[in-house]
Amino acid sequence: MSFDRSIKIAPSILSADFANFGEEIQAIEAQGADWVHVDVMDGHFVPNLTFGPPAVKAFRPHVKTFMDVHLMIAPVDPYIEAYAEAGADMITAHIEAGPHIHRTLQAIRAQGVKAGVVLNPGTPAEAVADVLDLCDMVLVMTVNPGFGGQKFIHSGVDKTRKLRQMIGDRPIHIQIDGGVTPETAPLVVAAGADVLVAGSAVFKGGSVSNPEVYGANMRAIREAAEGAREAA
Ligand code: DX5
Ligand code: ZN
Repeated sequence: MSFDRSIKIAPSILSADFANFGEEIQAIEAQGADWVHVDVMDGHFVPNLTFGPPAVKAFRPHVKTFMDVHLMIAPVDPYIEAYAEAGADMITAHIEAGPHIHRTLQAIRAQGVKAGVVLNPGTPAEAVADVLDLCDMVLVMTVNPGFGGQKFIHSGVDKTRKLRQMIGDRPIHIQIDGGVTPETAPLVVAAGADVLVAGSAVFKGGSVSNPEVYGANMRAIREAAEGAREAA
């Protein structure tokens, strides 16, 4: 598949109904999600606990698009194989999740899975300069990781602009995660982002019996984002 910098919406199922993941995934895909974003938390690297490899494996048959697994766990290296075997299409790891991010990214690619590196709000763009060629994506956190529904941290916009310059014409996505709404999406897309994770802004007001709301929420983000791309 050739590299595609079109705007992609990746709903985070952290904001879905935890008793009904299969139907929730089917609903967001039927309503236009491009990717499905899975937030893995360990209660140690971040103050919250979510999905082990068996949970991710159970999501897999429901995901027809692209399963993007965001690992907020430390250490991360011992678990890469298990999340790859669970069916991740992409695994992203935080720089701070181990002593050797270069080795971590190599280990992800060695599993035949796409690799992403994550920048926390306190981590500068320059921190990924020497690993860009091992990455299919850089994820810019615009909240501190751990919870959905937090407020967008604006320093991620300048960071995205810097990264876009550093990446040049290399086939590397820039993903934004945290506080993405129709108001904040244009800022990061104008700065160079192409993959937008959104949890609360996609799932708010909807349910599997009222999935059109998910569709309308995603359209609002996409239209605002595409408007900013055209203007940029
Ligand atoms: C935060 C997670 C996010 C989160 C985004 O630690 O990585 O993916 O679910 O949620 P919203 O879009 O509600 O900020
Ligand atoms: Zn995430």
